This record gives sequence, structure tokens and C-alpha cells, in this order.
Amino acid sequence: MSARLTELRLTEFKTFRDAVLPLNDMTILIGRNSSGKSNALDGLDVLSRLAEGGDLADALDSRRGDEGPLRGGIAGCPPHGEDQFKLGCTVVNPEAAGEGYFWLEFDVTVRVGPEPEIVRETLTGFSGKRRKTQDPKRNSMHALLDAKSVSAGAGTIEASWYNGRPGRGPRATFRSSRLVTAQLPLRLEGTDEVQRQITAAAHDVLSALRGVFHLDPVPHLMRQYTPGRDIRLRRTAENLSAVISHMRELDPQSFRKLVRHTQALVDHDVSGIELIRSDLGDVMLALREGTATTPAREMSDGLLRFMAIATTLLRQGQDLDLSRRDLPGETGSPMLVIEELENGLHPAQASQLLSLVKETIAAQVVFTTHSPALLSALSPKDHDHVVVSSRDRATGISRLTRLPEVEGYPSLMAQGDLGTVVTSGLLDQRPAGEQDFTAFDHLMGIGPR
Ligand SMILES: Nc1ncnc2c1ncn2[C@@H]1O[C@H](COP(=O)(O)OP(=O)(O)OP(=O)(O)O)[C@@H](O)[C@H]1O
Ligand SMILES: [Mg+2]
Repeated sequence: MSARLTELRLTEFKTFRDAVLPLNDMTILIGRNSSGKSNALDGLDVLSRLAEGGDLADALDSRRGDEGPLRGGIAGCPPHGEDQFKLGCTVVNPEAAGEGYFWLEFDVTVRVGPEPEIVRETLTGFSGKRRKTQDPKRNSMHALLDAKSVSAGAGTIEASWYNGRPGRGPRATFRSSRLVTAQLPLRLEGTDEVQRQITAAAHDVLSALRGVFHLDPVPHLMRQYTPGRDIRLRRTAENLSAVISHMRELDPQSFRKLVRHTQALVDHDVSGIELIRSDLGDVMLALREGTATTPAREMSDGLLRFMAIATTLLRQGQDLDLSRRDLPGETGSPMLVIEELENGLHPAQASQLLSLVKETIAAQVVFTTHSPALLSALSPKDHDHVVVSSRDRATGISRLTRLPEVEGYPSLMAQGDLGTVVTSGLLDQRPAGEQDFTAFDHLMGIGPR
């Protein structure tokens, strides 16, 4: 297993202050509209863009190829009325256990104006001798990198790094317009073991972040012929036909699964998936329906969106178009981010989608949902991976709470159906004279405010 993200820290970002989003193999974000779900995912997107090591303004403000612009741009990142934002993450690489820093904490503060610049950046690492990946003790973490801006607007930042000895390590000046973690390995000669370990740690953090892939399938873009060689899935899934054609050649087992899932989705008889070729060698996906063939051009929105998500999950996040992010020696495992997973699908398909997510082992999956059917399909064990986003009415600040930690959760467990509770609330189902579930219902976004 390679470097993976286990936590996103939203320390000062949009609606968040000191909030933490735990990231597992599967992470489900729920909560009412405008509660901060997409803001949290924007935070992940910002770190991922910064991890490319390019200029801050380019990374956060320009329309970057297929990826599209960051929602709200760089000016939308600080909480309203402030001029800086602060984000962080924890990355764990079990492969490095025993030989290097396998537990890494990375935090960065960016001042957005007048010129965007990094004002603080730290990378801390734990290299326990034990092959365990539990939370290390603070005092056994090494400050691998510590960068601070000395004078605002100078375009530079002072940084020191660890050299294996107690006390302050070597120092140097770096550019404040890009991540110091991306610049540091270029300065280290890599002549001693500590330097090699720091380089590996920086690489692990950057590659885990670069693996974040926000899948946002747009059905009308999938209804066209695609060059057969365009096999790396783009976030809009506009080249899905070529990706599925490639999957049929390379991974017939997953292709057969896609056929089965597609058959299970629709009411009418689908006997297979075909790939039609144009005279120019371009491909278009089609469904074999009885004696007729339905090309992608004529397929329904929900079906196309489902096929894009199912293909990405069945391929375990391989062959994604991570734009400029493919650097040599890439090792991070992909993290698929999907907003409103169930969008456009009939409620009866919820459990099918969920099983696809759970079968995705080589990639982490984070999704948001408003679907009661999908929530009801979760097992009690899955509830550990559900995070509820809510916003304080007085301050407007968003909070993230793991579902089992929500007050009133044991009563929910007694009913065993999260979907029903999210729709109608525990309050409605409370036998007379029993516990008050106002707090629970408020957090879940139900009932009077
Ligand atoms: N920089 C900012 N500072 C403070 N608040 C902000 C900032 N940017 C956005 N917001 C608030 O966050 C809200 C958007 O939240 P977000 O997009 O995360 O909602 P959501 O939970 O994804 O909702 P939905 O389910 O509707 O998609 C905005 O309406 C605004 O109130
Ligand atoms: Mg949203």
C-alpha cells in the first residue's frame, strides 16, 4: 500500500475553523444544503492543486485545462472578512514504516493578497521503529520542515529543516509563491540518510495529494465519438467511450462486471455493451438492446452518469487523467471525490452503487449524498465513515461530526435506518415522554430550527 490521506484539516478555510475531516477507504459526507460539504471538498482540491508545486496564483485562480477553475477562486478561500486560509493533512505510508517517516503531518497558511504567498508551512514526521500506524506521540515527531515568512510581500520565505540532530537545522530562503515542500527536495543533496528520508516524506505528501481526483460526469459530453487512444478518464468523463473500450481489452473481468451492473440498472433488456467505431477510428459506447443498438448519443443521463462512476470504481481509480500531475515515481493511491453520488439515479440503485464503492480497494472514495435510500443501505459498521456537516446558526461556522458521535445516535441505532431518520427525524418517532432528540434532528438538518 502506498501513501494515502487519512485526515484533512480545515483550520481556517471558508466556513470552517479548526475542523477535521477523517478520510478512510470510504468517507461519506452528509448534511443539509450550504452546510459546508463542498467547502470541505474544496479544501482537498486546494491542497491537491498546490501539491503540483506550481505557482499559487496559477494553481488556484486560472482555469486549469480539463480540471476547471477552483470554486470561488483563491479570493474565496479565506473565511469572509479575512485575508488568509490555513489547511493541512495527515498522510500515512505503511511501506515506509521501519525505514523512514511513515506518518506525516503537513500544514500550510496562505495569504491571498495583494500577491498570494505562503506565510507558514510545516511538515512533521514520525518514523517509529514499530510497524504500526497508530497515532504517534507528539514528542516523537520530527519537524522535517518549518517555514515562516519574515517580511510580508517580499516574495520569499525562510525555512529550516531537520538534519538528524536536536536543535535548529540548516536554513535557507525559498520562494513564497509555491509550496516549500515541493522546493525543498531540489535543495537537498540527498547525500545522507536523513536527507533521503525527508525527500521521501515530501514526495509521499505531494503524491498522496496529487492523487485526488474529482469525478464530475457530464452526460451530454459523453454522447460523442472519442479518439480511441484517449483512454485516461477525464473528470467530466467525456472520453468514457474510449475508457470503456480500453477496459474491455485490458481488464475483461471489470468489463463484464460493468455489463452486469448496467443490466441491473435498467428495466428493459440489455444484452451487452458494444463499442461502435467511426471511419476515423473514433469510438462510441452503445448498448445492445434486443435486436437494436442504442449508441451513447441516445442514452439516458442517469445511465451515462452511472456508467462513468461504475467504470471509475471498477478500474480502482487507475488510468485517471490527473492532468500535469503525473510525475516520475508517482506512488500515491488515488482518492476519488464524487459529489452527490446518487444524482440522477432511481433510489432502488442506491445499494448497487454502494457495493461498487465498497469493492473499490485500491482507491479511497469520498462522496456526498442527500439520498435517504443510499443512507438506509449503509450497515451500522459503515456509520463510522459517515461525517455530518452542520452550520452554527449564530456564527455561520461549519462543524464536522462523525455520525456515531452525534448526540442521540444510540437511539438511531435502535431503529437501524439512517435514511428514514434523515428524512423525518428522530423527534417524529419518539414515543411520548422519551428522550429529547432536538439536538440530533437539528444536526441532521431536520425539523424546526
Ligand atoms: N469564504 C467563505 N467564507 C465564509 N463562508 C463561505 C465562504 N465561501 C462559501 N461560504 C458559505 O458556504 C456556503 C456554501 O457551502 P457548501 O457549498 O459547502 O454547501 P454544501 O454543504 O455543499 O451544500 P449542497 O448540499 O447544497 O451542495 C455558501 O452559501 C456560503 O454561505
Ligand atoms: Mg455541495
